[in-house]
Amino acid sequence: MLNNKVVLITGGTGSFGKKFVEVVLRDYPQVKKLIVYSRNEQNQLDMQTQFPDTTYPAMRYFIGDIRDAERLRRACEGVDVIIHAAAIRNVNTATYNPDECIKTNILGAQNVINAALACGVHDVIALSSEKACAPTTLYGATKLTSDKLFTAANNLSGTKDIRFSVVRFSSVLGGSGSAYPIWKQALDQRKTTLPVTDKQMTRFNISMVEAVQTVLFALEHHVGGEIFVPKCMSYHITDLAKAMAPSCQLEETGLRTNEKLHEELITNADAQDTIDLGNYYAILPAVTFNHSREEMLQHHGARFVASDFHYCSDKNTQWDSVDTLRAKIKRYIDHNFEAK
Ligand SMILES: NC(=O)c1ccc[n+]([C@@H]2O[C@H](COP(=O)([O-])OP(=O)(O)OC[C@H]3O[C@@H](n4cnc5c(N)ncnc54)[C@H](OP(=O)(O)O)[C@@H]3O)[C@@H](O)[C@H]2O)c1
Repeated sequence: MLNNKVVLITGGTGSFGKKFVEVVLRDYPQVKKLIVYSRNEQNQLDMQTQFPDTTYPAMRYFIGDIRDAERLRRACEGVDVIIHAAAIRNVNTATYNPDECIKTNILGAQNVINAALACGVHDVIALSSEKACAPTTLYGATKLTSDKLFTAANNLSGTKDIRFSVVRFSSVLGGSGSAYPIWKQALDQRKTTLPVTDKQMTRFNISMVEAVQTVLFALEHHVGGEIFVPKCMSYHITDLAKAMAPSCQLEETGLRTNEKLHEELITNADAQDTIDLGNYYAILPAVTFNHSREEMLQHHGARFVASDFHYCSDKNTQWDSVDTLRAKIKRYIDHNFEAK
């Protein structure tokens, strides 16, 4: 699918980007060019030691800001596929710097769309987050806006064969801001009590490799306008604590402002647009772009979910146990949080 293609990933030095590059170089050895587009020079230099262009001649490293429309457009010349991963993605950073977050996550997203349209890129997949689903934070709201921009961009392609879709997934277990690194630090300091905002809390569980696989699935199957969501396991926050430190006590500190007790990936309001694809769901666009709803259903060979469907971490049918969580943590640590 990506062999002989020119692929550009915005935010290629981030945690998703690095895993994506690793998987593409391994599974698509004939990829023509794999362009990492991001701002920080040192992060690119570090990545070049991991993926040097001497060993991987397809690798290209472009310094650039997605806010810089002209630079982005130039970088997209001759590109077949864009994966848009660049974002301000820390909830607190976004809250304290709303205008900066809007410039990157919304205006930057529109720049990616404009560059793709101007350069005749064939496939664009933008990354979204569970926080975009019924958002309670500015970060989530910017990601939802970005989702809407990308799905609606299919209306701008005219006669050109350009498809824009979105992949939405939950926070990765062990990612920054999640319970794991906070508890790990407390345990390293020999604390015997761990803070938890609410013992009833549940979360979805996904590894970075599964997120990458969802993007590759979307690339292969999208007609444009879908929001793809991987099916994943849920876990109880108390089980994560037992998996990490069975003898520790938990001290409840209360939900943080805007923190959800349970994560959502698809609201009940979106059920009427959601189809079941086996290992994935896809939310079809509420308005028709280049393909009718019937054509999209036929293309995916899928049917709509039930009207009471709500993809929320406490309503999941698939759960991680203390043992499976312990095994996953071990694997994540062995693989530097980027488990297979
Ligand atoms: N990690 C997760 O748990 C998770 C969960 C759900 C969704 N997502 C989504 O997945 C995507 C990637 O997340 P991640 O975890 O890889 O994030 P990350 O580790 O914070 O990486 C962000 C990347 O974006 C780049 N970037 C930020 N602002 C930029 C700008 N203005 N122009 C160009 N590049 C910019 C950063 O590099 P520079 O700073 O050098 O520019 C970095 O390469 C995001 O859209 C995020 O919302 C992530």
